Amino acid sequence: MSNMAVFASLGDAVLQAKRRLPHMVFDFIEGAAGLETAADENKSAFADIKLQPRILQDVATRSLNKSLLGESYALPFGVSPMGMCDLIHPGADRLIAEVGHTRNIPVCLSTAGSSSIEDFSQWSKNNASKTAWFQLYVQTPEIAMDMVKRAEKSGYHTLVLTLDVPQVSRRVRDIRNGFEIPFRIGPRQFIDFAMHPTWSINRLLNGIPRPINFELSGDGKPFDRNAQRTGADLEFLRQLRERWKGNLIIKGVMSADDALLLQSEGVDGIWISNHGGRQLDAAPPAISALPKIRAALGPDYPIIFDSGIRSGEDVVKAIALGADFVMLGRAILFALGAKGARGLDCLFDIFSNDIDTVLAQIGCANVENLDGNVLAALKQAV
Ligand SMILES: Cc1cc2nc3c(=O)[nH]c(=O)nc-3n(C[C@H](O)[C@H](O)[C@H](O)COP(=O)(O)O)c2cc1C
Repeated sequence: MSNMAVFASLGDAVLQAKRRLPHMVFDFIEGAAGLETAADENKSAFADIKLQPRILQDVATRSLNKSLLGESYALPFGVSPMGMCDLIHPGADRLIAEVGHTRNIPVCLSTAGSSSIEDFSQWSKNNASKTAWFQLYVQTPEIAMDMVKRAEKSGYHTLVLTLDVPQVSRRVRDIRNGFEIPFRIGPRQFIDFAMHPTWSINRLLNGIPRPINFELSGDGKPFDRNAQRTGADLEFLRQLRERWKGNLIIKGVMSADDALLLQSEGVDGIWISNHGGRQLDAAPPAISALPKIRAALGPDYPIIFDSGIRSGEDVVKAIALGADFVMLGRAILFALGAKGARGLDCLFDIFSNDIDTVLAQIGCANVENLDGNVLAALKQAV
């Protein structure tokens, strides 16, 4: 079966994942803060951005290669950090690390991932200096610095500090479903699992994933998802900048003032994101922040973007609006939930083909040359 036959679109993958995964697991992926307005608007804002069709341009040979932070990657998109990916599919973190290596793209392990910093580096074929990145949450500076030490020892070169989760938001779906980390199985969850036998058998065979990095660093206590993550203040940032010699990227930036401060503090790049709408429901669509922040930072400062990316067209739009690189969040988990490794592969093929075709349609042969000239009309969202 060709990859394209696994599913024809991300929309189809979402439907397959919904059938295959227990409700509580699907809702953990798809859910967001509050009324889920920010999550919805992240996507609808992209629909309001239009690309300008062009003809008679030289687009016979097209390139999707994209450089970022001095590295050359084969595609302009990678994988955002996401906690507990292995819940969706056993070995998901490993598949993500491997796809980073085989496709030559950056992929980011979360602090709350179900795999260790050390394993993720090894699975990337010890390519952590390029394709495997590590994302840090700071509950206490001591635990965080221990993780930084482990990341350094494991060969990582790019550290992503996420700052938009000072406190995990109320996510109604998780509360309704009794979703907790570490996992708790009561009668309700039992029924949900029994109705999704493929997933449940896989889980029985592979065990319940845990956010292992918190056990390996610090006092060895299990991860408390609801504990504050406010340990990362400006002083911590300065200490981290001093301590970490590789690339330091700050994720969760939505304000031009914050971006300017980070630039002046010697951070190597920022990651514009509203956490896929999972934190502040009243946040503006992430894509609306991009042109303003790009204008404030100037043309050369590295900007990564995520939140609401659901197609290759969205990747092209974000780059045209000023992003150097784009990351996929939920799209990756839906693909894994739908068909595991084959789903992940299929998603990459769909996005790559989509970007390639879009470049031909808009008369731009190289993603490196995408800029505001390829945009047709911007509605008020941006
Ligand atoms: C299930 C799930 C878990 C996530 N866990 C983390 C995390 O541990 N660290 C982090 O920085 N971001 C986390 N995020 C946010 C993603 O990195 C990314 O910013 C977001 O998913 C992008 O929006 P999108 O899903 O609409 O593409 C998570 C997102 C999801 C869906």
